[in-house]
Amino acid sequence: MGLLVIPALAALLAFGIWAALALSAGWLALVIVSGLLLLVGLYDVVQRRHSVLRNFPVLGHLRYLLESIRPELQQYFIERNYDGRPYDRDTRSVIYERAKGIHGELAFGTELDVNEVGYEFVVHSTAPLEPDEAQPRVRVGGPDCTRPYDMALLNVSAMSFGALSGNALRALNAGAAAGGFAHDTGEGGLTDYHLENGGDLIWEIGSGYFGTRTKDGDFDPELFRDKAAHPQVKCVSLKLSQGAKPGIGGVLPAAKVTPEIAAARGVPQGEKCVSPAAHRVFGTPRELVEFIARMRGLADGKPTGFKLCVGSRLEVLAICKAMLEAQVTPDFIVVDGSEGGTGAAPLEFEDRVGMPLTEGLITVHNALVGVGLRDRIALGAGGKVATGIDIVKRLAQGADYTNAARAMMMAVGCIQAQMCHTNRCPVGVATQDPRRARAVDVADKSERVRRYQEATVAEAQRIIASMGLPGPHALTPDMLHRRVDHADVRSYAELYDWLKPGELVAEAPEAWAADWAAADPDRFVPVRSLTTATRRGDLV
Ligand SMILES: Cc1cc2nc3c(=O)[nH]c(=O)nc-3n(C[C@H](O)[C@H](O)[C@H](O)COP(=O)(O)O)c2cc1C
Repeated sequence: MGLLVIPALAALLAFGIWAALALSAGWLALVIVSGLLLLVGLYDVVQRRHSVLRNFPVLGHLRYLLESIRPELQQYFIERNYDGRPYDRDTRSVIYERAKGIHGELAFGTELDVNEVGYEFVVHSTAPLEPDEAQPRVRVGGPDCTRPYDMALLNVSAMSFGALSGNALRALNAGAAAGGFAHDTGEGGLTDYHLENGGDLIWEIGSGYFGTRTKDGDFDPELFRDKAAHPQVKCVSLKLSQGAKPGIGGVLPAAKVTPEIAAARGVPQGEKCVSPAAHRVFGTPRELVEFIARMRGLADGKPTGFKLCVGSRLEVLAICKAMLEAQVTPDFIVVDGSEGGTGAAPLEFEDRVGMPLTEGLITVHNALVGVGLRDRIALGAGGKVATGIDIVKRLAQGADYTNAARAMMMAVGCIQAQMCHTNRCPVGVATQDPRRARAVDVADKSERVRRYQEATVAEAQRIIASMGLPGPHALTPDMLHRRVDHADVRSYAELYDWLKPGELVAEAPEAWAADWAAADPDRFVPVRSLTTATRRGDLV
Protein backbone atom coordinates (compact mmCIF):
# COMPACT_ATOMS: atom_id res chain seq x y z
CA MET A 1 0.00 0.00 0.00
CA GLY A 2 2.71 2.47 1.05
CA LEU A 3 4.48 2.05 -2.28
CA LEU A 4 1.38 3.39 -4.10
CA VAL A 5 2.70 6.84 -3.22
CA ILE A 6 5.23 6.58 -6.06
CA PRO A 7 2.72 6.03 -8.94
CA ALA A 8 0.39 8.59 -7.31
CA LEU A 9 3.16 11.20 -7.31
CA ALA A 10 4.13 10.27 -10.88
CA ALA A 11 0.50 10.74 -11.96
CA LEU A 12 0.34 14.09 -10.16
CA LEU A 13 3.55 15.19 -11.85
CA ALA A 14 2.24 14.17 -15.27
CA PHE A 15 -1.01 16.03 -14.62
CA GLY A 16 0.92 19.11 -13.46
CA ILE A 17 3.08 19.11 -16.61
CA TRP A 18 0.00 18.78 -18.82
CA ALA A 19 -1.84 21.55 -16.88
CA ALA A 20 1.17 23.89 -16.99
CA LEU A 21 1.43 23.45 -20.76
CA ALA A 22 -2.26 23.42 -21.59
CA LEU A 23 -3.87 25.68 -18.97
CA SER A 24 -1.63 28.15 -17.12
CA ALA A 25 1.94 28.59 -15.88
CA GLY A 26 0.53 28.66 -12.30
CA TRP A 27 0.42 24.86 -12.44
CA LEU A 28 4.23 24.86 -12.47
CA ALA A 29 4.09 24.98 -8.66
CA LEU A 30 2.42 21.56 -8.69
CA VAL A 31 5.09 20.28 -11.09
CA ILE A 32 7.90 21.43 -8.77
CA VAL A 33 6.32 20.09 -5.57
CA SER A 34 5.26 16.73 -7.00
CA GLY A 35 8.61 16.40 -8.81
CA LEU A 36 10.56 16.97 -5.62
CA LEU A 37 8.37 14.57 -3.64
CA LEU A 38 8.78 11.96 -6.36
CA LEU A 39 12.58 12.29 -6.14
CA VAL A 40 12.41 11.93 -2.35
CA GLY A 41 10.11 8.91 -2.77
CA LEU A 42 12.44 7.22 -5.27
CA TYR A 43 15.42 7.81 -2.98
CA ASP A 44 13.46 6.38 -0.02
CA VAL A 45 12.69 3.20 -1.95
CA VAL A 46 16.31 2.51 -2.93
CA GLN A 47 18.06 3.56 0.31
CA ARG A 48 18.81 0.71 2.75
CA ARG A 49 19.04 2.31 6.20
CA HIS A 50 15.42 2.94 7.09
CA SER A 51 12.99 0.07 6.52
CA VAL A 52 9.97 2.24 7.18
CA LEU A 53 10.95 4.58 4.31
CA ARG A 54 11.55 1.66 1.93
CA ASN A 55 7.96 0.50 2.56
CA PHE A 56 6.36 3.92 3.02
CA PRO A 57 8.30 6.37 0.82
CA VAL A 58 7.62 10.06 1.52
CA LEU A 59 4.86 9.27 4.08
CA GLY A 60 7.39 7.57 6.39
CA HIS A 61 9.09 10.92 6.99
CA LEU A 62 6.08 11.97 9.04
CA ARG A 63 7.10 9.40 11.62
CA TYR A 64 10.55 10.98 12.03
CA LEU A 65 9.09 14.47 12.15
CA LEU A 66 6.56 13.60 14.83
CA GLU A 67 9.11 11.64 16.82
CA SER A 68 11.47 14.60 16.83
CA ILE A 69 8.84 16.80 18.47
CA ARG A 70 7.44 14.07 20.72
CA PRO A 71 9.03 15.42 23.94
CA GLU A 72 7.57 18.85 23.28
CA LEU A 73 4.12 17.43 22.41
CA GLN A 74 4.29 15.27 25.54
CA GLN A 75 5.31 18.16 27.77
CA TYR A 76 3.00 20.82 26.35
CA PHE A 77 -0.16 18.83 25.61
CA ILE A 78 -0.18 15.39 27.18
CA GLU A 79 1.54 15.28 30.57
CA ARG A 80 -0.63 16.00 33.56
CA ASN A 81 0.46 18.32 36.39
CA TYR A 82 1.59 15.42 38.55
CA ASP A 83 2.97 12.78 36.22
CA GLY A 84 5.77 14.35 34.16
CA ARG A 85 9.19 12.71 34.49
CA PRO A 86 11.77 13.09 35.96
CA TYR A 87 10.12 16.21 37.43
CA ASP A 88 6.36 16.67 37.16
CA ARG A 89 4.86 19.93 35.98
CA ASP A 90 3.75 21.00 39.47
CA THR A 91 7.31 20.67 40.76
CA ARG A 92 8.81 22.46 37.78
CA SER A 93 6.27 25.28 38.08
CA VAL A 94 7.02 25.71 41.78
CA ILE A 95 10.75 25.93 41.03
CA TYR A 96 10.22 28.49 38.25
CA GLU A 97 7.82 30.56 40.33
CA ARG A 98 10.03 30.60 43.40
CA ALA A 99 13.02 31.46 41.22
CA LYS A 100 11.08 34.37 39.74
CA GLY A 101 9.90 35.52 43.14
CA ILE A 102 6.27 34.70 42.38
CA HIS A 103 4.27 32.90 45.04
CA GLY A 104 4.56 29.14 44.43
CA GLU A 105 1.01 28.43 45.60
CA LEU A 106 -1.86 26.41 44.11
CA ALA A 107 -5.64 26.65 44.38
CA PHE A 108 -8.32 24.08 45.13
CA GLY A 109 -6.39 21.31 46.86
CA THR A 110 -4.04 18.44 46.09
CA GLU A 111 -4.09 16.61 42.77
CA LEU A 112 -2.33 13.64 44.34
CA ASP A 113 -4.16 10.48 45.26
CA VAL A 114 -3.67 10.41 49.01
CA ASN A 115 -4.98 6.82 49.14
CA GLU A 116 -2.38 5.49 46.75
CA VAL A 117 0.22 3.03 48.09
CA GLY A 118 3.50 4.90 48.53
CA TYR A 119 1.83 8.24 49.32
CA GLU A 120 3.89 10.03 52.00
CA PHE A 121 3.15 12.83 54.43
CA VAL A 122 4.49 14.44 57.60
CA VAL A 123 2.56 14.97 60.81
CA HIS A 124 1.69 18.55 61.75
CA SER A 125 1.05 19.73 65.30
CA THR A 126 -2.03 21.24 66.84
CA ALA A 127 0.37 23.67 68.45
CA PRO A 128 2.51 24.85 65.52
CA LEU A 129 5.32 27.33 66.02
CA GLU A 130 6.42 30.41 64.10
CA PRO A 131 9.20 29.52 61.65
CA ASP A 132 12.66 31.00 62.16
CA GLU A 133 13.45 33.95 59.90
CA ALA A 134 17.13 33.04 59.59
CA GLN A 135 18.26 30.03 57.58
CA PRO A 136 19.56 27.23 59.80
CA ARG A 137 23.17 26.09 59.34
CA VAL A 138 24.78 22.73 59.82
CA ARG A 139 28.33 22.58 61.16
CA VAL A 140 30.57 20.45 58.94
CA GLY A 141 33.88 19.51 60.50
CA GLY A 142 34.85 16.57 62.70
CA PRO A 143 37.64 16.38 65.26
CA ASP A 144 40.45 16.37 62.67
CA CYS A 145 39.12 19.38 60.79
CA THR A 146 40.59 22.76 61.71
CA ARG A 147 38.37 24.96 59.54
CA PRO A 148 34.76 23.86 59.95
CA TYR A 149 32.14 25.15 57.52
CA ASP A 150 28.54 26.04 58.26
CA MET A 151 26.50 24.44 55.50
CA ALA A 152 23.04 25.62 54.40
CA LEU A 153 20.09 23.21 54.35
CA LEU A 154 19.98 23.32 50.53
CA ASN A 155 23.07 23.70 48.32
CA VAL A 156 24.05 23.40 44.68
CA SER A 157 24.98 19.80 43.91
CA ALA A 158 28.03 18.82 41.86
CA MET A 159 27.85 19.69 38.16
CA SER A 160 31.05 20.21 36.21
CA PHE A 161 32.22 22.70 33.65
CA GLY A 162 31.81 20.54 30.59
CA ALA A 163 28.36 19.34 31.58
CA LEU A 164 27.20 22.91 32.24
CA SER A 165 28.04 26.06 30.33
CA GLY A 166 30.30 28.73 31.77
CA ASN A 167 27.35 31.12 32.10
CA ALA A 168 25.26 28.57 33.99
CA LEU A 169 28.13 28.06 36.45
CA ARG A 170 28.60 31.81 36.83
CA ALA A 171 24.89 32.18 37.64
CA LEU A 172 24.91 29.30 40.13
CA ASN A 173 27.97 30.61 41.91
CA ALA A 174 26.77 34.22 42.01
CA GLY A 175 23.44 32.93 43.39
CA ALA A 176 25.30 30.94 46.04
CA ALA A 177 27.35 34.01 46.96
CA ALA A 178 24.25 36.19 47.32
CA GLY A 179 22.30 33.56 49.26
CA GLY A 180 25.11 32.24 51.48
CA PHE A 181 24.98 28.61 50.42
CA ALA A 182 27.54 26.23 48.92
CA HIS A 183 28.20 25.35 45.30
CA ASP A 184 29.87 22.02 44.43
CA THR A 185 32.22 22.33 41.45
CA GLY A 186 31.60 18.83 40.07
CA GLU A 187 34.51 16.70 38.97
CA GLY A 188 35.50 18.71 35.88
CA GLY A 189 37.97 20.95 37.71
CA LEU A 190 37.98 24.23 39.59
CA THR A 191 37.53 26.87 36.89
CA ASP A 192 37.31 30.63 36.61
CA TYR A 193 33.58 30.23 36.05
CA HIS A 194 33.32 28.83 39.58
CA LEU A 195 35.60 31.45 41.03
CA GLU A 196 34.76 34.79 39.51
CA ASN A 197 31.65 35.52 41.59
CA GLY A 198 32.98 34.67 45.04
CA GLY A 199 30.46 32.00 46.17
CA ASP A 200 31.50 29.28 48.65
CA LEU A 201 32.78 26.19 46.87
CA ILE A 202 33.04 22.50 47.57
CA TRP A 203 35.80 21.37 45.28
CA GLU A 204 35.12 17.88 44.03
CA ILE A 205 37.60 15.48 42.49
CA GLY A 206 36.59 12.25 40.82
CA SER A 207 38.48 9.26 39.45
CA GLY A 208 39.96 11.42 36.63
CA TYR A 209 41.46 13.85 39.22
CA PHE A 210 40.67 16.65 36.77
CA GLY A 211 42.38 19.87 37.67
CA THR A 212 44.79 18.05 39.96
CA ARG A 213 46.27 15.27 37.89
CA THR A 214 49.66 14.30 36.62
CA LYS A 215 50.27 13.70 32.92
CA ASP A 216 49.64 10.00 33.53
CA GLY A 217 46.28 10.58 35.16
CA ASP A 218 47.41 10.17 38.77
CA PHE A 219 46.51 12.42 41.68
CA ASP A 220 48.92 15.37 41.93
CA PRO A 221 49.23 16.36 45.62
CA GLU A 222 51.05 19.66 45.01
CA LEU A 223 48.45 20.92 42.55
CA PHE A 224 45.75 19.82 44.95
CA ARG A 225 47.36 21.70 47.85
CA ASP A 226 47.65 24.90 45.79
CA LYS A 227 44.07 24.87 44.56
CA ALA A 228 42.51 23.73 47.84
CA ALA A 229 44.14 26.76 49.48
CA HIS A 230 41.90 29.12 47.50
CA PRO A 231 39.79 31.02 50.06
CA GLN A 232 36.58 30.27 48.16
CA VAL A 233 37.17 26.52 48.55
CA LYS A 234 35.46 25.75 51.85
CA CYS A 235 35.40 21.94 51.62
CA VAL A 236 36.99 19.27 49.43
CA SER A 237 35.19 16.18 48.27
CA LEU A 238 36.13 12.85 46.71
CA LYS A 239 33.50 11.45 44.37
CA LEU A 240 33.22 7.67 44.61
CA SER A 241 30.05 7.32 42.58
CA GLN A 242 27.00 9.14 41.29
CA GLY A 243 23.41 7.93 41.54
CA ALA A 244 22.62 8.10 37.84
CA LYS A 245 25.64 6.04 36.78
CA PRO A 246 27.27 4.27 39.71
CA GLY A 247 30.17 1.99 38.94
CA ILE A 248 31.08 3.52 35.60
CA GLY A 249 33.28 6.42 34.63
CA GLY A 250 32.68 8.81 31.79
CA VAL A 251 34.10 9.80 28.43
CA LEU A 252 34.21 13.29 26.99
CA PRO A 253 34.62 12.85 23.21
CA ALA A 254 37.71 14.45 21.62
CA ALA A 255 35.57 17.05 19.81
CA LYS A 256 34.27 18.36 23.13
CA VAL A 257 37.73 18.74 24.65
CA THR A 258 38.03 22.42 23.76
CA PRO A 259 41.09 24.46 24.83
CA GLU A 260 39.08 25.75 27.80
CA ILE A 261 37.99 22.28 28.96
CA ALA A 262 41.51 20.92 28.42
CA ALA A 263 42.95 23.69 30.61
CA ALA A 264 40.32 23.24 33.34
CA ARG A 265 40.81 19.48 33.49
CA GLY A 266 44.54 19.31 32.86
CA VAL A 267 44.15 17.00 29.86
CA PRO A 268 45.45 17.26 26.27
CA GLN A 269 43.25 19.32 23.99
CA GLY A 270 41.35 17.47 21.24
CA GLU A 271 41.95 14.05 22.76
CA LYS A 272 39.28 11.80 24.26
CA CYS A 273 39.05 12.54 28.02
CA VAL A 274 38.29 9.49 30.16
CA SER A 275 37.33 9.33 33.83
CA PRO A 276 37.90 5.70 34.82
CA ALA A 277 35.33 3.63 36.68
CA ALA A 278 37.65 3.06 39.66
CA HIS A 279 40.02 5.26 41.62
CA ARG A 280 43.78 4.81 41.49
CA VAL A 281 44.36 6.37 44.91
CA PHE A 282 42.66 3.63 46.88
CA GLY A 283 41.67 0.01 46.42
CA THR A 284 40.38 -0.88 49.87
CA PRO A 285 38.15 0.78 52.48
CA ARG A 286 41.21 1.42 54.68
CA GLU A 287 43.07 3.09 51.81
CA LEU A 288 39.97 5.19 51.11
CA VAL A 289 39.80 6.64 54.61
CA GLU A 290 43.56 7.12 54.67
CA PHE A 291 43.30 9.06 51.41
CA ILE A 292 40.58 11.24 52.96
CA ALA A 293 43.00 12.05 55.79
CA ARG A 294 45.69 12.86 53.20
CA MET A 295 43.32 15.17 51.31
CA ARG A 296 42.41 16.95 54.55
CA GLY A 297 46.09 17.43 55.36
CA LEU A 298 46.78 18.85 51.90
CA ALA A 299 43.71 21.10 52.22
CA ASP A 300 45.13 22.48 55.46
CA GLY A 301 42.37 21.05 57.64
CA LYS A 302 39.36 22.09 55.54
CA PRO A 303 36.34 19.78 55.82
CA THR A 304 36.94 16.73 53.66
CA GLY A 305 34.47 14.07 52.68
CA PHE A 306 33.19 11.82 49.98
CA LYS A 307 30.11 11.38 47.83
CA LEU A 308 28.65 8.03 46.89
CA CYS A 309 25.58 6.27 45.67
CA VAL A 310 25.23 3.29 47.99
CA GLY A 311 25.52 -0.07 46.30
CA SER A 312 25.76 -2.52 49.15
CA ARG A 313 25.42 -2.26 52.90
CA LEU A 314 28.41 -4.56 53.26
CA GLU A 315 30.71 -2.01 51.63
CA VAL A 316 29.31 0.82 53.75
CA LEU A 317 30.02 -1.25 56.86
CA ALA A 318 33.52 -2.07 55.59
CA ILE A 319 34.22 1.67 55.25
CA CYS A 320 32.90 2.22 58.78
CA LYS A 321 35.17 -0.52 60.12
CA ALA A 322 38.10 1.10 58.32
CA MET A 323 37.23 4.42 59.98
CA LEU A 324 37.25 2.78 63.40
CA GLU A 325 40.50 0.89 62.81
CA ALA A 326 42.37 3.75 61.12
CA GLN A 327 40.89 6.27 63.54
CA VAL A 328 40.03 8.54 60.61
CA THR A 329 36.62 9.97 59.83
CA PRO A 330 35.54 12.11 56.92
CA ASP A 331 33.91 15.40 57.91
CA PHE A 332 30.96 14.75 55.63
CA ILE A 333 29.45 12.08 53.44
CA VAL A 334 27.03 12.94 50.65
CA VAL A 335 24.63 10.15 49.72
CA ASP A 336 23.32 10.36 46.17
CA GLY A 337 20.21 8.41 45.22
CA SER A 338 19.88 6.29 42.10
CA GLU A 339 17.08 8.67 41.08
CA GLY A 340 19.72 11.40 40.69
CA GLY A 341 20.57 13.19 37.48
CA THR A 342 23.46 13.29 35.04
CA GLY A 343 24.54 15.02 31.86
CA ALA A 344 24.77 11.63 30.11
CA ALA A 345 24.54 7.97 31.14
CA PRO A 346 23.31 4.66 29.70
CA LEU A 347 19.60 4.00 30.30
CA GLU A 348 20.31 0.77 32.20
CA PHE A 349 22.45 2.62 34.73
CA GLU A 350 20.00 5.49 35.11
CA ASP A 351 17.12 3.09 35.66
CA ARG A 352 18.43 0.01 37.44
CA VAL A 353 21.84 0.38 39.11
CA GLY A 354 22.37 1.75 42.62
CA MET A 355 20.29 2.29 45.72
CA PRO A 356 17.49 4.86 45.77
CA LEU A 357 18.11 7.76 48.13
CA THR A 358 15.74 6.60 50.88
CA GLU A 359 17.49 3.23 51.29
CA GLY A 360 21.00 4.62 50.72
CA LEU A 361 20.60 7.44 53.20
CA ILE A 362 19.03 5.28 55.89
CA THR A 363 21.78 2.68 55.41
CA VAL A 364 24.62 5.19 55.81
CA HIS A 365 22.94 7.01 58.70
CA ASN A 366 22.33 3.74 60.56
CA ALA A 367 25.82 2.44 59.91
CA LEU A 368 27.39 5.61 61.28
CA VAL A 369 25.09 5.60 64.32
CA GLY A 370 25.79 1.90 64.82
CA VAL A 371 29.56 2.42 64.94
CA GLY A 372 29.20 5.48 67.16
CA LEU A 373 30.61 7.96 64.59
CA ARG A 374 27.46 9.77 63.50
CA ASP A 375 28.17 12.89 65.57
CA ARG A 376 31.54 13.42 63.84
CA ILE A 377 30.23 13.24 60.29
CA ALA A 378 27.69 15.52 58.60
CA LEU A 379 25.41 13.70 56.20
CA GLY A 380 24.28 15.34 52.96
CA ALA A 381 21.59 13.93 50.68
CA GLY A 382 20.89 14.43 46.97
CA GLY A 383 18.28 12.95 44.67
CA LYS A 384 15.34 14.93 43.29
CA VAL A 385 15.35 17.42 46.15
CA ALA A 386 13.29 20.28 44.75
CA THR A 387 10.75 21.53 47.29
CA GLY A 388 10.54 22.20 51.02
CA ILE A 389 8.95 18.83 51.75
CA ASP A 390 11.84 17.05 50.00
CA ILE A 391 14.25 18.71 52.41
CA VAL A 392 12.10 17.82 55.43
CA LYS A 393 11.74 14.21 54.29
CA ARG A 394 15.49 13.72 53.87
CA LEU A 395 16.24 15.30 57.23
CA ALA A 396 13.67 13.01 58.89
CA GLN A 397 15.39 10.05 57.24
CA GLY A 398 18.75 10.97 58.75
CA ALA A 399 20.38 13.68 56.61
CA ASP A 400 21.78 16.92 58.03
CA TYR A 401 21.53 18.90 54.80
CA THR A 402 20.55 18.48 51.15
CA ASN A 403 21.88 19.27 47.68
CA ALA A 404 20.01 19.83 44.44
CA ALA A 405 21.40 19.66 40.91
CA ARG A 406 18.54 19.60 38.40
CA ALA A 407 16.27 21.87 40.45
CA MET A 408 19.11 24.42 40.50
CA MET A 409 19.47 23.97 36.73
CA MET A 410 15.77 24.78 36.41
CA ALA A 411 16.25 27.90 38.52
CA VAL A 412 18.86 28.90 35.90
CA GLY A 413 16.34 28.28 33.09
CA CYS A 414 16.50 24.52 32.29
CA ILE A 415 13.21 23.39 30.72
CA GLN A 416 13.79 19.63 31.17
CA ALA A 417 14.38 19.15 27.45
CA GLN A 418 16.64 16.20 28.41
CA MET A 419 19.19 17.12 25.75
CA CYS A 420 22.23 17.69 28.02
CA HIS A 421 24.19 14.97 26.18
CA THR A 422 23.68 16.50 22.72
CA ASN A 423 25.40 19.87 23.24
CA ARG A 424 22.17 21.38 21.87
CA CYS A 425 20.57 22.50 25.14
CA PRO A 426 17.83 24.87 23.96
CA VAL A 427 18.34 27.28 26.87
CA GLY A 428 22.14 27.32 27.04
CA VAL A 429 22.44 25.70 30.47
CA ALA A 430 23.97 22.30 29.61
CA THR A 431 26.04 23.02 26.52
CA GLN A 432 29.48 24.16 25.42
CA ASP A 433 28.08 25.95 22.38
CA PRO A 434 28.79 29.65 23.03
CA ARG A 435 25.88 30.80 20.86
CA ARG A 436 23.45 28.80 22.98
CA ALA A 437 25.17 29.59 26.29
CA ARG A 438 24.82 33.35 25.70
CA ALA A 439 21.07 32.90 26.34
CA VAL A 440 21.82 32.59 30.07
CA ASP A 441 21.75 36.10 31.50
CA VAL A 442 24.02 35.72 34.52
CA ALA A 443 22.71 38.69 36.52
CA ASP A 444 19.06 37.67 36.14
CA LYS A 445 19.59 33.94 36.59
CA SER A 446 21.84 34.26 39.64
CA GLU A 447 19.07 36.19 41.36
CA ARG A 448 16.69 33.37 40.46
CA VAL A 449 19.03 30.82 42.02
CA ARG A 450 19.22 32.88 45.20
CA ARG A 451 15.46 33.35 45.38
CA TYR A 452 14.74 29.68 44.66
CA GLN A 453 17.07 28.44 47.42
CA GLU A 454 15.74 31.01 49.90
CA ALA A 455 12.07 30.28 49.22
CA THR A 456 12.56 26.51 49.30
CA VAL A 457 14.43 26.52 52.59
CA ALA A 458 11.82 28.94 53.99
CA GLU A 459 9.10 26.48 52.99
CA ALA A 460 10.99 23.63 54.69
CA GLN A 461 11.24 25.73 57.83
CA ARG A 462 7.53 26.51 57.63
CA ILE A 463 6.73 22.79 57.46
CA ILE A 464 9.04 22.08 60.41
CA ALA A 465 7.34 24.85 62.41
CA SER A 466 3.90 23.48 61.47
CA MET A 467 5.05 20.21 63.01
CA GLY A 468 5.61 22.06 66.29
CA LEU A 469 9.38 21.55 66.11
CA PRO A 470 12.00 24.10 67.11
CA GLY A 471 14.25 23.32 64.12
CA PRO A 472 15.48 20.78 61.58
CA HIS A 473 17.53 18.89 64.17
CA ALA A 474 14.28 17.84 65.89
CA LEU A 475 12.99 15.85 62.90
CA THR A 476 12.80 12.10 63.50
CA PRO A 477 11.69 9.10 61.40
CA ASP A 478 8.40 8.68 63.30
CA MET A 479 7.21 12.02 61.89
CA LEU A 480 7.31 10.82 58.30
CA HIS A 481 4.51 8.47 57.24
CA ARG A 482 3.95 6.26 54.21
CA ARG A 483 0.86 4.43 52.99
CA VAL A 484 1.85 0.79 52.60
CA ASP A 485 -1.53 -0.56 51.51
CA HIS A 486 -5.05 0.76 51.15
CA ALA A 487 -5.81 0.37 54.88
CA ASP A 488 -2.42 0.79 56.48
CA VAL A 489 -0.07 3.72 57.04
CA ARG A 490 3.30 3.29 58.76
CA SER A 491 5.87 5.74 60.04
CA TYR A 492 9.49 5.46 58.94
CA ALA A 493 10.31 4.55 62.53
CA GLU A 494 8.26 1.38 62.01
CA LEU A 495 9.27 0.70 58.42
CA TYR A 496 13.06 0.61 58.89
CA ASP A 497 15.59 -0.49 61.53
CA TRP A 498 17.05 2.41 63.47
CA LEU A 499 20.22 1.46 65.31
CA LYS A 500 21.25 2.84 68.69
CA PRO A 501 24.59 4.66 69.03
CA GLY A 502 27.44 2.11 69.12
CA GLU A 503 25.09 -0.87 68.77
CA LEU A 504 26.98 -2.49 65.89
CA VAL A 505 30.23 -2.48 67.80
CA ALA A 506 28.69 -3.61 71.11
CA GLU A 507 26.43 -6.32 69.72
CA ALA A 508 25.11 -6.09 66.19
CA PRO A 509 21.35 -6.70 65.98
CA GLU A 510 20.31 -9.86 64.15
CA ALA A 511 19.37 -8.12 60.90
CA TRP A 512 22.83 -6.54 60.69
CA ALA A 513 25.03 -9.17 62.36
CA ALA A 514 26.03 -11.22 59.30
CA ASP A 515 26.91 -8.17 57.20
CA TRP A 516 28.78 -6.60 60.09
CA ALA A 517 30.78 -9.78 60.62
CA ALA A 518 31.53 -10.10 56.89
CA ALA A 519 32.52 -6.45 56.39
CA ASP A 520 36.26 -6.29 55.78
CA PRO A 521 38.17 -3.00 56.12
CA ASP A 522 40.75 -4.36 53.68
CA ARG A 523 38.44 -5.45 50.88
CA PHE A 524 35.53 -4.05 48.93
CA VAL A 525 33.12 -6.93 48.43
CA PRO A 526 29.59 -5.83 47.56
CA VAL A 527 27.62 -8.96 48.55
CA ARG A 528 28.12 -11.76 51.02
CA SER A 529 27.24 -14.47 48.51
CA LEU A 530 30.28 -13.42 46.48
CA THR A 531 32.44 -14.65 49.32
CA THR A 532 30.70 -18.00 49.03
CA ALA A 533 31.06 -17.96 45.26
CA THR A 534 34.80 -17.37 45.60
CA ARG A 535 35.05 -20.25 48.01
CA ARG A 536 33.13 -22.48 45.62
CA GLY A 537 35.42 -21.29 42.84
CA ASP A 538 38.41 -22.26 44.99
CA LEU A 539 37.02 -25.77 45.35
CA VAL A 540 36.56 -26.28 41.60
C1 LIG B 1 24.19 17.97 34.22
C2 LIG B 1 24.66 17.23 35.44
C3 LIG B 1 26.02 17.10 35.69
C4 LIG B 1 26.48 16.42 36.82
N1 LIG B 1 27.83 16.35 37.09
C5 LIG B 1 28.25 15.76 38.23
C6 LIG B 1 29.62 15.77 38.60
O1 LIG B 1 30.49 16.31 37.91
N2 LIG B 1 29.97 15.16 39.77
C7 LIG B 1 29.05 14.59 40.59
O2 LIG B 1 29.41 14.09 41.66
N3 LIG B 1 27.75 14.57 40.28
C8 LIG B 1 27.33 15.15 39.13
N4 LIG B 1 25.98 15.19 38.85
C9 LIG B 1 25.03 14.58 39.81
C10 LIG B 1 24.49 15.63 40.77
O3 LIG B 1 25.50 16.27 41.48
C11 LIG B 1 23.52 15.02 41.78
O4 LIG B 1 24.22 14.16 42.61
C12 LIG B 1 22.37 14.26 41.16
O5 LIG B 1 21.93 14.89 40.00
C13 LIG B 1 21.19 14.19 42.11
O6 LIG B 1 20.66 15.44 42.31
P1 LIG B 1 19.32 15.96 41.60
O7 LIG B 1 18.38 14.83 41.69
O8 LIG B 1 18.98 17.15 42.45
O9 LIG B 1 19.64 16.31 40.20
C14 LIG B 1 25.54 15.85 37.71
C15 LIG B 1 24.17 15.99 37.45
C16 LIG B 1 23.73 16.67 36.34
C17 LIG B 1 22.24 16.81 36.12
